[in-house]
Amino acid sequence: MKAISKHREIVEQQGHRYSSRHRWQFRRSGERLVEHLPWLLKLPECFFKCLGLWQAGRRNMLDVQLEDIELVSKRLPDAFDGFRILWISDFHIGPLDGLLEKVFGHVEQAEYDICVLGGDYCFWHRTDDDAIERMKRLAAVLLGKSDVYGLLGNHDRYAMAEVLDQAGVRMLVNDNAMIEKAGDNLTLIGVDDHHYFYGDDFDEAMAGVDPKTFKLLLCHSPEQYIKAAQRGIDAYLCGHTHGGQICLPNGFAPVNSASVPRKMLKGPWQYQAMVGYTSRGVGATGLPLRFNCPSEISLITLKKTR
Ligand SMILES: [Fe+2]
Repeated sequence: MKAISKHREIVEQQGHRYSSRHRWQFRRSGERLVEHLPWLLKLPECFFKCLGLWQAGRRNMLDVQLEDIELVSKRLPDAFDGFRILWISDFHIGPLDGLLEKVFGHVEQAEYDICVLGGDYCFWHRTDDDAIERMKRLAAVLLGKSDVYGLLGNHDRYAMAEVLDQAGVRMLVNDNAMIEKAGDNLTLIGVDDHHYFYGDDFDEAMAGVDPKTFKLLLCHSPEQYIKAAQRGIDAYLCGHTHGGQICLPNGFAPVNSASVPRKMLKGPWQYQAMVGYTSRGVGATGLPLRFNCPSEISLITLKKTR
């Protein structure tokens, strides 16, 4: 696993209130306000409890669905036509009792070639002991089925990368890995979190990558889509948005935690020649609730257009 980047180290040590880039984003996004002032969440907590919706929201959060997704590209090598990736993102698992058992149930039944953990293992921005213990248990089960790759999200300090690395997960923190199958190659490119820690470094992540190979970007947030397209990325898997987590009955998300077009907040999307998929995530943060936006584990099948 590559070492922590200098910028991420500074942000982790000093807090990103010292970054002028972040101060601008802090003003722009109410989500940042909640990240820094968790007591503000008491208000919506009271709201849902007074309406008698708290328990229903918790049940929704634990009702994890396995989404069968096809990502289609004409650049996909023949040997990877039908290659399956179990993509699980946004665990926030420390205080979410019962979630791990739901994930185990789906993992046991799903058939896939590799698994990727898309980041956000912690509930807040602390590396809490419950999250470490639960992610170690999950890693042990996943590694019994396939190779497992991992990323860091905007809730994860670098310590979590070390925990998962020691557990046997191949952490792609501005790094890449090539998968070979029947003489064809596919390159996984993992970019560190841009949303909060600004640890992303495409030059480092793509060092040594053969430009002719099929390039699958693994990135916690969809916010790198323009840079990814400029770098010739063929397919982009991400999460981070939770699909809005608490949505209106028509699925509209009042809170948008990513600076991207709305079509990239959840589900499949396309930008120029690059295909992408944004998972709604498996857990929840801020409030341990979901409405009109089910928790998700994504079973991605790569398909080649003829
Ligand atoms: Fe998240």
